[in-house]
Amino acid sequence: MTRVLVLTSSILGGNSQQLADHFSGLAVERDGVEITRRDLVADELPHLGLAELSSWQVAADERSDEQRELAARSDALIEELQAHDVVVLGVPLYNLGIPSQLKAWFDRVMRAGVTFRYTENGPQGLLEGKRAVILAARGGQYAGTELDSQTPHLKGMLGLMGIGEVNTVFAEGLAMGEAQRDGAMAEARQAIAGLVERL
Ligand SMILES: Cc1cc2nc3c(=O)[nH]c(=O)nc-3n(C[C@H](O)[C@H](O)[C@H](O)COP(=O)(O)O)c2cc1C
Repeated sequence: MTRVLVLTSSILGGNSQQLADHFSGLAVERDGVEITRRDLVADELPHLGLAELSSWQVAADERSDEQRELAARSDALIEELQAHDVVVLGVPLYNLGIPSQLKAWFDRVMRAGVTFRYTENGPQGLLEGKRAVILAARGGQYAGTELDSQTPHLKGMLGLMGIGEVNTVFAEGLAMGEAQRDGAMAEARQAIAGLVERL
C-alpha cells in the first residue's frame, strides 16, 4: 500500500489545486494507492505563536489543559505525515514565496526532536522512507533562476526532516496569456501522469 498525502494551499482554489486534483484523480485509480487530502486553506492553521511553541517543550504528562490542546495540533499533523509514504504539495507562488497557510503547516511538522534533530554535524532528518512531489503554479516564469527562492525553500524544509527525494512539476507563465497557460498546464498534467505511474 502506498499512502499519499495531498496538501493544497491555493487561496484561489486555482491552478495548483487543479494540478493536485489531477494527481489525486489519477492516483486513486491505481491499485494499492490510498489518498488523504488536506486543504490548508479550507482548514486553516493559525500562525505559530509562543504559547504553542512552548507547549512542545513541556513533557506530555506535565502539560496544562491549554498546552495539551495546543500541542495536539502539531502532534496530529506529524502523525498524519508519518503515516504516509508520499507527500504531494500543490503550491501557488504568492509574492515569490509559499502561501502562509502552507508555511503554517511546515511550522507545525518541523519539530526539533520529533521530525529532525540537531547533532554536532548539523541537523538530521528523522522521517524515513518518504518522498515528495511539488506541483508549482506560477503567474510568471522563474524556474531555475535566482528569483525562484520558493523551490529551494521547500526542498530545504523537506530535506531537513529527511525527505530528500523530491520531484517538482512546474506550471509557469500562467498569467502570460491563454496559449501559454493552456500549454503549461497541459505539460504539467503530462508530467504528473508520469509521476503517478511511478507511485
Ligand atoms: C497574492 C498573490 C500573489 C502572487 N504573487 C506572484 C508572484 O510573486 N509571482 C508570480 O509569478 N505570480 C504570482 N501570483 C500569481 C500566481 O502565482 C498564479 O495565479 C498561480 O496560478 C497561483 O496558483 P493558484 O492558482 O493555485 O492559486 C500571485 C497571485 C496572488 C493571488
